[in-house]
Amino acid sequence: MCGIIGYSGHENAADKLIHALTSLEYRGYDSAGVTLFAENGTVTLKKQGRLKNLQQLLADNPIASVCGIGHTRWATHGKPSDDNAHPHVSGKVSLVHNGIIENYADIRRDLERDGAVFLSDTDTESAVKLLDDAYRQTGEPLSAIRQTCEQLTGSYAFAIVFADINGKVFGVRRGSPLIAAYGQDGNFVASDITAVLWDTRRYISLDENEIAAVTNDGIVVTDFDGKAVAKETKTAEWDSESAEKGGFPHFMLKEIHEEAESVGRTVAAHIKDGLPDFQSCGLSRQFLSKLKSVTIAACGTAMHAGLVGKTVTERLAGIPVRVEVASEFRYGSVFLEEGDLFVAVSQSGETADTLAALDIAKQHGARTLGIVNAAGSALSREADGVFLTMAGPEISVASTKAYGVQLAALYLLAIATAEAKGKLSSEDARLFTQTLLTEIPSKISEVVSRESEIRTLASDFMNAKSVFFIGRGLDCALSYEGSLKLKEISYIHSESYAAGEMKHGTISLIEENTPVVAVATQPELFTKTISNIREVKARGANVLLICPANFPNADIADTVFNIPATSELFTPFTAVTALQLFAYHMAELRGRDIDKPRNLAKSVTVE
Ligand code: G6P
Repeated sequence: MCGIIGYSGHENAADKLIHALTSLEYRGYDSAGVTLFAENGTVTLKKQGRLKNLQQLLADNPIASVCGIGHTRWATHGKPSDDNAHPHVSGKVSLVHNGIIENYADIRRDLERDGAVFLSDTDTESAVKLLDDAYRQTGEPLSAIRQTCEQLTGSYAFAIVFADINGKVFGVRRGSPLIAAYGQDGNFVASDITAVLWDTRRYISLDENEIAAVTNDGIVVTDFDGKAVAKETKTAEWDSESAEKGGFPHFMLKEIHEEAESVGRTVAAHIKDGLPDFQSCGLSRQFLSKLKSVTIAACGTAMHAGLVGKTVTERLAGIPVRVEVASEFRYGSVFLEEGDLFVAVSQSGETADTLAALDIAKQHGARTLGIVNAAGSALSREADGVFLTMAGPEISVASTKAYGVQLAALYLLAIATAEAKGKLSSEDARLFTQTLLTEIPSKISEVVSRESEIRTLASDFMNAKSVFFIGRGLDCALSYEGSLKLKEISYIHSESYAAGEMKHGTISLIEENTPVVAVATQPELFTKTISNIREVKARGANVLLICPANFPNADIADTVFNIPATSELFTPFTAVTALQLFAYHMAELRGRDIDKPRNLAKSVTVE
């Protein structure tokens, strides 16, 4: 999703903005641009495509400047193009935007009726034109910004400069994340702290309806009544090293290598006396003991983690768990009431659909828990309780280590609930918790250490046009993630099916050499999955089997990857690492842009 940066300081602003935009590349984008203060007002340069295009433009048009704003755009309104790229300019105002302005078409129609000429197809340009009008009327930036925002609906964050106010950048938060940071030789506004970790870890999070005015010697925050707001300066836990590749060819591979440690760290941070600790997340043992059902809402990979959490919670705690695709939550009937637990799972904590689902759950009186990786994110602020996962920054668009820590959180919740309800003895609960703390991280590392084996298996499938994933039970939940990972980064069509469902339609797509990845980690389901493997084999499929060494008849598959032996309840941790590495190497063998796959955004802050 769009990345925002603004800088006011003493050093070369173009360099600072490009550095920050490079750090924001992970969010996904298709064009980029900057506005810089030059000798006589501002200059705006923008270009479709990768940042290197913008860098070339800057190299051809060097601008000595110490203040400016920059943007990476992920197209929503209007195709990727130079004209649609941000910043958008009207009169003295130059503005970059993340989010969506819902009433932009009405504003545009009214302004066009009055003779305004629009240069882009974006929703953003309506905002910049309104702001230009307001600034002409008021001659005062803060009231012009407030007046403009009152006319806009939707959720958005802006960084703004006015050509006649050299050295000052304004940042506004209304529904989309924005921070301001104290740098070494100047100050910033940015979409998130990873944008500036190379320069500083000191930042403030803007709250809703706050405006930051950033200059080279300070940051002043005001609310929409014009009152100054005292903000707490935070220090990011994440350091710049953790947001860099550290010798790996891609962030995704680095992050898979960090998965084991992330899981161990997350579990360690949420244990008390050997048992999962949810008291600190606002869920008492008594509350868990009375729990009748759980609803989990999330998007993408986080939703897939929820599917595993469902199976584990239902198995251990014996209560029903619904997993909802967050973007659909508001359209179905909501069966939540007081005393129910609603869990929102999100790496970024800024996913608009997940936040909208959380809002609905709160309206229905449910107790809400956010399982979230980004401290200070909207989810961490808005949920009643927060379980902070400890994956560190995840830069690659395709989520890997964040899935691992989300699983860890959901397993701990399942164990805690089962123990509180008396479905699991304290001894067994301790044993399971200990397994998550030590054994599972070491088994994940074992899979990672066999990366070259997985690369060889991937090379067998690298020319595939379509890959199917099948599994039953927990393995079905896992297969969804394996399939998603593959399509996200390799662009190979892929579908995931409950192994028993394949024969009810999709098996018609199996022909000679069609790749099928069969995930079979649950001993009580081996026999049934063997039948399903035979069904696809009989139609010519080329089957890669992911299973533990005790799988009988592994020779029915064409190739096999044995995951290390663990209790069957915990196999998703190791099996998913194998699937992530498989997807990574398929994409790498095909020469894909792994960390920045086309069309995708890391943090989707629009509904
Ligand atoms: C986007 C990303 C996915 C991610 C999903 C949910 O679609 O590309 O990798 O799983 O958002 O993100 P969240 O930050 O809420 O976990």
